[in-house]
Amino acid sequence: MSRSGRPTDDKPLPPLYAMTHGGIESTAADEITRDLGGEVKKTARGLVVFRMEQLTDKVLSLRTTEDVFLMAWGSDSLTYKAEDLDTLRTWTARKPDWEHLFKLHHKIRPKTKGRPTYHIVCQMQGEHGFRRADARTAFTEGLAGKIPNGWHYNNENAWLEIWLTIYSKTAVCGVRLSDRTMRHRTYKLDHVAASLRPTVAAAMVRLAGIGPGMTVLDPFCGAGTILAEALDVAEQRSKAGKVRVVGGDIDPNAVFVTSQNLENVGRADLARWDATALPLETASVDRIVSNPPFGKQLSSIEKIGPLYEAAAEEWDRVLKPGGRAVLLAMEHEGLKRVLQSHRWAQVRQTRIRLLGQPSVLSVWNKPEW
Ligand SMILES: C[S@@+](CC[C@H](N)C(=O)[O-])C[C@H]1O[C@@H](n2cnc3c(N)ncnc32)[C@H](O)[C@@H]1O
Repeated sequence: MSRSGRPTDDKPLPPLYAMTHGGIESTAADEITRDLGGEVKKTARGLVVFRMEQLTDKVLSLRTTEDVFLMAWGSDSLTYKAEDLDTLRTWTARKPDWEHLFKLHHKIRPKTKGRPTYHIVCQMQGEHGFRRADARTAFTEGLAGKIPNGWHYNNENAWLEIWLTIYSKTAVCGVRLSDRTMRHRTYKLDHVAASLRPTVAAAMVRLAGIGPGMTVLDPFCGAGTILAEALDVAEQRSKAGKVRVVGGDIDPNAVFVTSQNLENVGRADLARWDATALPLETASVDRIVSNPPFGKQLSSIEKIGPLYEAAAEEWDRVLKPGGRAVLLAMEHEGLKRVLQSHRWAQVRQTRIRLLGQPSVLSVWNKPEW
């Protein structure tokens, strides 16, 4: 029961928000709407605010989000001035029903043994007339008296985390429902250089629109992140028709790392190959989802053009007419020229940052004839 005497479950559910890698929020919004049944209220760079009728642990199964929170309060009208500190303090102190938020949190994350532990996180990006440390102090002051007696502050693996995120004039504050396994997954035991974030790979797989009975290819698989996300979709589609997941890399270590990472995920056909001479039949693949190497990874930037040309030749050969490709590349313009020369049509283009570098996620359709 709450202080008002009403059972907690009678209170309306507060909004939730998800943090995403910048650039994939619309794909996350689509997942939240179609797979979770949520109602998206707002999207901003790296943020999706949504409502659910009921709170269940299904929110933790989202693939394209980095973290999910119960919203305490949100604002998109920060002034960038020091007065914002008063707003942060007062809103944190007065707006949320913290007791209700904590009870909802416990439903999704039952208490572990021992004393309850909590952690306060304050993130800030963009130029403001105050420092992040000042924002954190104001936030902590606003939380005074809200944390039940007996809870212990803990920096590491706390049971409950209260976050304040400030990004330009937007601020969101909430209780974190997810933990690190949402963004890192449990399958990623081994890495290779330039391995993708699983949530970005999941967004690419989602944009590919994998249907029952399809064959999906990643010719430059690295640590197998895209293949793992494709296998997750394959698992969901398998009742209607088996999805075949195929991948390879020129580096034998990458193929080994991929096989390790996929061990507990599902079965993919893996091979060590040169993507410019794929051992695959003509018109045998329905979807290509890939993150080809970028100039800086090769010995020289000049090598990237010829590699893209030769790889695109193979993609055009193995992809069925009407098939689709989802690609993530830093040298997008070069890739675009090559794919257009094969008459592929670009249907979507999104800017995202990859390893701190501007990159483009693009979706392509191969013509039917
Ligand atoms: C950007 S990484 C892919 C990362 C991958 N998406 C992941 O999440 O780990 C590009 C990969 O292409 C591989 N590669 C480079 N040239 C290749 C070629 N000619 N054929 C096949 N793979 C190649 C590299 O070994 C590297 O693993």
